[in-house]
Amino acid sequence: MAIEGLVVRKAGREILRGVDLRLPAGSITGLFGPSGCGKTTLMRSIVGVQKTHGGRVVVLGARPGSRELRSDVGYVTQAAAVYKDLTLLQNVRYFARLYGASDDQVQETIRTVGLTGQARQKVSSMSGGQASRASLACALVARPKLLILDEPTVGLDPVTREELWGHFRAIAGGGTAIMVSSHVMDEAGHCDRLVLMRDGTILSRTTPAALLETTGSATYDQAFLAVIAHGEAA
Ligand SMILES: Nc1ncnc2c1ncn2[C@@H]1O[C@H](COP(=O)(O)OP(=O)(O)O)[C@@H](O)[C@H]1O
Ligand SMILES: [Mg+2]
Repeated sequence: MAIEGLVVRKAGREILRGVDLRLPAGSITGLFGPSGCGKTTLMRSIVGVQKTHGGRVVVLGARPGSRELRSDVGYVTQAAAVYKDLTLLQNVRYFARLYGASDDQVQETIRTVGLTGQARQKVSSMSGGQASRASLACALVARPKLLILDEPTVGLDPVTREELWGHFRAIAGGGTAIMVSSHVMDEAGHCDRLVLMRDGTILSRTTPAALLETTGSATYDQAFLAVIAHGEAA
């Protein structure tokens, strides 16, 4: 996945202002930045559901959103896209049919997200964390090479968030390139690489350890503020 000089405008305003990015296989890239900085717009551009106005996006050698990529790119939107009145099994089967995945893959995916015991439960009756994992399962069943997760841990308790990050790590371990967005900086430590955004531009591409070290910060929150202050001073 490669992005060069990506520009997106909405209502006459530049929302992405020349973004360059790569997402390597088998690793988790965290996309961090305050609300409104353009994280969702960037992710939509990668998935191919966003009109772009400049630059280049190449996903696994193809144009974003093209037919040949359908089962190669998984996308979990901020608002859950599962059918709440269906059971988990019915949801995952539905997405499996859509992408031509087998019934074995359905069972395996439900196991991967740790919901075997909830397979026949309606999503509407699940806890927040379980519902998030249900969405993840639907995006995962086609065994995508690239998985885009837009703020998947938002509103979840710390224990459930840790569990979800554990699932992301296991999925990346299978070779999938994962991009996870969040505005909660303390989740940065779970990522292999960090992309820090503000106002439609990338302020820094770094790693968790390097971010703390170069900014001399004790916490990721502090480090992010230091990066912003440094950018404004420059
Ligand atoms: N349809 C739209 N028309 C005008 N501005 C929009 C539209 N959708 C989003 N925006 C603006 O684009 C910016 C980036 O939004 P978004 O990508 O959703 O940010 P994030 O996901 O980081 O919160 C925000 O300032 C938002 O107000
Ligand atoms: Mg968003």
